[in-house]
Amino acid sequence: MTKKTGEIPESEILRQSDICAQIAEINAALPKMPLAMIDTYGCQQNEADSEILRGYAGMMGFGFTDKPEDADLIIVNTCAIREHAEMRVLGNVGALRHIKAKNPNLKVAVCGCMVQQEHMANKLKRSFRVVDIAFGPHELWRFPELYKKSIESGERIFENSPSDGAIAEGMPVIRQDNIRAWISIMYGCNNFCTYCVVPHVRGRERSRKSADILAEAKKLIQEGYREITLLGQNVNSYGRDLDENIDFSGLIRMINEIPGEFLIRFMTSHPRDAGDKLFLAMAECEKCAKHLHLPVQSGSSRILKEMNRHYDRNQYLDLIKKARALMPDIVLTTDIIVGFPGETEEDFSETLSLVAEVRYDAMFTFIFSPRVGTKAYDMTDDTPKEVKKERFERLLTAVNGISAEKHAAYIGTEQKVLIDGIDKQDDTVLTARTEGGRLVRLKGGQESLIGSFAYAKITGSNTWALSGELM
Ligand code: SAH
Ligand code: SF4
Ligand code: F3S
Repeated sequence: MTKKTGEIPESEILRQSDICAQIAEINAALPKMPLAMIDTYGCQQNEADSEILRGYAGMMGFGFTDKPEDADLIIVNTCAIREHAEMRVLGNVGALRHIKAKNPNLKVAVCGCMVQQEHMANKLKRSFRVVDIAFGPHELWRFPELYKKSIESGERIFENSPSDGAIAEGMPVIRQDNIRAWISIMYGCNNFCTYCVVPHVRGRERSRKSADILAEAKKLIQEGYREITLLGQNVNSYGRDLDENIDFSGLIRMINEIPGEFLIRFMTSHPRDAGDKLFLAMAECEKCAKHLHLPVQSGSSRILKEMNRHYDRNQYLDLIKKARALMPDIVLTTDIIVGFPGETEEDFSETLSLVAEVRYDAMFTFIFSPRVGTKAYDMTDDTPKEVKKERFERLLTAVNGISAEKHAAYIGTEQKVLIDGIDKQDDTVLTARTEGGRLVRLKGGQESLIGSFAYAKITGSNTWALSGELM
C-alpha cells in the first residue's frame, strides 16, 4: 500500500540496528555493563517515544537505572507545551553538571519538543555545555547514529532541522508497564490552535498504516497486555493522509475484533472532528472504554474562535448530548485553559457555566502560557496574573465539587475494574481503574490479581478516587 506521507526506508532503520550492534560490542567489552537513564516530560506521546529510546539503548547493550549518578548515558525527553515544563527541564539538565563532574564519561542527550524550537536549541548549545547530543522529535529514529557520531568525534551533536516529519516503523520498543501499552497511531498536528506549540514542533499530521497498528496491537494482546491506548494529538483525523479507506472509528472497530479480554482507550479526540460515527463505534465496540476525553479549552464561543478551535459552545454541548444519548454512563473529561489573551470575566463565567452543565468527571486545568512562534504569543494579554490565578482557583473549586459528587454517586454500585498495582501508602490495598479511568483503592485482594479484570463493590469516595471491596 502506498502513502502520501513520507516513510523512513526500512534500510535506514536496519542501518540503525547495525549501529546498535556495533555499540553493543564496545559496551560488552567494558568491565561493567553501562547504564542508561531516560527522563521523560510531557504527554503520552513522549512516553511512547521514550519507550523507543529505551529499546535502542537496550540494543546498544545498556542496562537501565533511575539514578543519574549511576548512569553512563542520560537522555532527557523534553516537552515545550508550557513554560513551567521547560523551566523544570532546564533546571534538571543544568544540575547534571555536578553528575558529569564526577563521571566525565557520562553522555547527556536532550531530545523531544523543546529541542525542535530554534531558540531553545540555541540556548542549550550556548548555556548548557553539559549537553553532548540534542535532537528534535523528527530525528528520534536515528538516535543510534547520533550517539555513535558523538562518541567517535567527541564533538557536540545538534540536530533539529525543520521537517513536516515522516513515519518510521520497525524500531525497537521496551515498555515499562506490562498491563497497559501506548500505541502511537499518528504523529503531528494540523490544527494550529493559536496557543499551542505542538504543530510547530511535531510537524504535520501523519498516520501509521492500519496493518502496522493492528499487528502491534495483536502482539501486545498476545503478550498479555490488558489495555491499549491509541495515541495521537487529534485521533479523529486518523487515516486522512492514507491511501486506505479507513478512519478512526474504523480503526477502533478493527482492534475490537482482536480476540482476548482487553480495553481500548484513545487520546486525544478533538471536538472539531468528533461525532456520531465515533460515538457509535465506541458504543458498539464492547472492548472500547466508555470514556471520552474531549478538551473544550473554554466555554466562551468568542474565545474558542480566538483559539482557532473550529467549534463553538453550542456545537460542543451538542456533541456531549449525542455521546450521552448513545452511552448514558459515559465518563467525560476535558482540558481547560484559563487566562487566554483577552479573556474577560464574562468569558470566564461561560467556562464555569459550561463545566456546571456538562458535569465532567475530571479535568486538567492550565493557566495560559505564551509560546514563542504561536499566534497567541503576539496577542495583547492585559489580564493581571493575580486575576488569572484567582479564576484558576475558582474553576478548580467548581471542578473538585463536581468530581466529589460524581464519585459519591458510585457508592453502592458494582464496577468492572482492571487491577494495576499496590497502593503506595498501604500495601494491603490494591489499586485499580474503572472502565472510565477512575482510580479505585481495593480491599480484600492479593498481589497475584495485578493485571486482571475483577468486579468491585464501591463503598467510599472522595474528590480524586473511589474505594471498594473485591467481589
Ligand atoms: N492535542 C490535544 C492537546 C495537547 S496539549 C488536544 O487538542 O486536545 C494538552 C493540553 O495542554 C491542551 O488541551 C491545552 O489545554 C493545554 N495547553 C496547550 N498549550 C497551552 C498553552 N500555551 N498554555 C496553557 N495550556 C496549554
Ligand atoms: Fe495543540 Fe490544538 Fe493540535 Fe491539540 S489540536 S495539539 S491543542 S494545535
Ligand atoms: Fe509536550 Fe511535545 Fe507532548 S510539547 S505535550 S511532549 S507533543
